[in-house]
Amino acid sequence: ADGLHPHVYPWDHKKNLATFDHAAIRRGYQVYKEVCAACHSLDRIAWRNLIGVSHTEAEVKALAEEFEYTDGPNDVGDMFQRPGKPSDYMPAPYANEEQARAGNAGAYPPDLSLMIKARHGGADYVFSLLTGYQDPPAGVEIREGLNFNPYFPGGAIGMARVLYDGLVEYEDGTPATTSQMAKDVTIFLSWAAEPEMDERKKMGMKALTMLTILTGLSIYLKRHKWAGLK
Ligand code: HEM
Repeated sequence: ADGLHPHVYPWDHKKNLATFDHAAIRRGYQVYKEVCAACHSLDRIAWRNLIGVSHTEAEVKALAEEFEYTDGPNDVGDMFQRPGKPSDYMPAPYANEEQARAGNAGAYPPDLSLMIKARHGGADYVFSLLTGYQDPPAGVEIREGLNFNPYFPGGAIGMARVLYDGLVEYEDGTPATTSQMAKDVTIFLSWAAEPEMDERKKMGMKALTMLTILTGLSIYLKRHKWAGLK
């Protein structure tokens, strides 16, 4: 069975000329890092992608350096460990799918890079899923190790509820309620699925501005030039 249809929320970034809420992307990255990254990879995002979006270059360098990466081979053909650099991609929590399933009672935590695009309902679905855990209705048996969530197709999901009020502490003082964290991480993942969206909208705005000016100019010039020929 399909999951319960999520509510349609008024995400700011879905409006025509609106860009992402960058403070929300920053909070959402914190939620990803402190909660989701324990199980989910974000393969398509490199540290440098955060620069100028949610973090400064210095902050991103420091974030990358918290992780060790295997590099090489060096001059003598050896692989070696080194701290992360902004050009590195965010590290995955598990070495492979087998290890990921072993750590999650057989369920596979999918990569979250394109999750917002991959699932029907996108941002509305992910927000609803994160906030939608509840007790199963009377008479519905949920198998050991699974959790009832009406938004998940089939209703029984291998991921337990992960967000609880106060789980993270936001540096900007925003109260970290369950729904706030779900909203922020969903905005972060919406950005991750479409990091070029802001740029595209800004270019579109510039193109519209230029076209408006050029159209105005050509109408003026046309009238001016032909004015004597009435
Ligand atoms: C599945 C998001 C944290 C384990 C999923 C799915 C999403 C998601 C969108 C896909 C559901 C679908 O297939 O439609 C998140 C977010 C998290 C988070 C945003 C942080 C706020 C975690 C954590 C764990 C985990 C901490 C492990 C303790 C799983 C597993 C699945 C899953 C095992 C597969 C479930 C199944 O197919 O039955 N998660 N997750 N997740 N997640 Fe998470």
